[in-house]
Amino acid sequence: MEVITTLARVVPSRPGKPVRAGATEQQLAVRAALLGEQPWTVERASEVAARFDELAPTWDGERGGYRRAPAEDALERGGPFTEGLCVEIGCGTGLLTPLLEAVWSPVLGVDLSPGMLRRSRSALRVRADGARLPVPDRGASAVVIGDAPLFASEVVRVLRPDGAVVWSNALGDGAPFYVTTTALLSALAAASGSTWCALESEAGWGSWAVLRRQAAPA
Ligand SMILES: C[S@@+](CC[C@H](N)C(=O)[O-])C[C@H]1O[C@@H](n2cnc3c(N)ncnc32)[C@H](O)[C@@H]1O
Repeated sequence: MEVITTLARVVPSRPGKPVRAGATEQQLAVRAALLGEQPWTVERASEVAARFDELAPTWDGERGGYRRAPAEDALERGGPFTEGLCVEIGCGTGLLTPLLEAVWSPVLGVDLSPGMLRRSRSALRVRADGARLPVPDRGASAVVIGDAPLFASEVVRVLRPDGAVVWSNALGDGAPFYVTTTALLSALAAASGSTWCALESEAGWGSWAVLRRQAAPA
């Protein structure tokens, strides 16, 4: 049985949380991709890359101020984490990457959008699709996804059995990439044949979950 432990918030929210037009429709699409209900195609990947190429020049200025809070809280309270390679899917302009570099080494940033990637200062980044990661089987100690899609079978393929998935949504359930922790757990369980557990909380305007395979009973 999947188990979710919800921690009380320690990082307060504040008034003025933005509302993203079309977030609900995009959440449905992200959920459909997560559950494998909608095929992820090369055309769809090109559309996403083009959309984020357009947003890239203003990304940090318009959205940078609030994006780190949930990921930072997840890393502070969601551990312990295993040392080794961290794969950051949808690394974008690298707003979250320095937080990850304080925990893991190396951190490989993966993104579809050249415009977003170009703005990142991270040393190790590659243009690639989260649905086809340039990472060997069980090569990663962590997969971090801050407001980007989770392709469950690919995450299960690259993650070590003792590894963790760190999921964060900068605008919580108002984020276009938001899906519930229950949906994440179900998708990872279906892809792996194992049971997963999660720790979750909210921070600032956002929310996070850290998901791991449940240890087999002794
Ligand atoms: C909402 S932005 C988040 C960027 C960054 N994580 C942040 O918090 O600022 C989503 C990013 O995910 C990337 N992305 C979307 N789908 C992807 C996929 N299938 N594979 C890799 N990157 C993807 C986009 O290009 C974009 O840079």
